[in-house]
Formats: sequence, C-alpha cells, structure tokens
Amino acid sequence: MPTLTFVLPDGTRRTLEGKAGLSVMEVAMAEDLPGIIAECGGNAMCATCHVYAGATDRLPPVSEVEDEMLDSTAAPRTPASRLSCQVQIADNWDGMTFDVPETQL
Ligand code: FES
Repeated sequence: MPTLTFVLPDGTRRTLEGKAGLSVMEVAMAEDLPGIIAECGGNAMCATCHVYAGATDRLPPVSEVEDEMLDSTAAPRTPASRLSCQVQIADNWDGMTFDVPETQL
C-alpha cells in the first residue's frame, strides 16, 4: 500500500497509508488531517483541499476544471498546486509528499 506524507504548515509530518484509486483528499479526511477542509466533498468546486505536491511529475495531468478552480485557492497557487480531491493515488506512489497550505479559506 502506498504511503503519503503530509507536511503541515508548522512542519509536522503525518504519514498515512493510501489506497490506489482513492483520492489524496479522501485519505486526508479519513484521518482528520488538519488543514484539508474539502467543503464540496470532492467535486472540484471549492478549492479548500489545496495541497502542494512534492513530485508533480508522478501525478496525472491537471484537468481543465481543476485548473480553473486552482485559480481560487486561498493560499498562493504554485506549479506544485493541486486539488487533492482530483488526484487519485497510484500504487507506485510510496513516499509521495504533500505540503498543506497555511490557509484554505
Ligand atoms: Fe472541493 Fe476538492 S474538495 S475542490
């Protein structure tokens, strides 16, 4: 099972077990990870599940809908920005890291 490490704004690291096919947001919410709100429940309509991916080359491409929503994030958008609800976990992801932004609102 792939493991995902989330780095919180205070530097705390939380490593969680992922499961291929789930979204990064679903894993974070199941473990009550602070800093991921996911107001819209994973429908790419709120941008409160924003994360900064550690290895963007291992992720699926950003869809048009995700790209549009990433312009609405509370924390600055960077090339590493993704909506965690739109990123599905893959089996070969062991060691992936995601930085949680300072704010989602
Ligand atoms: Fe709303 Fe991801 S949960 S955009």
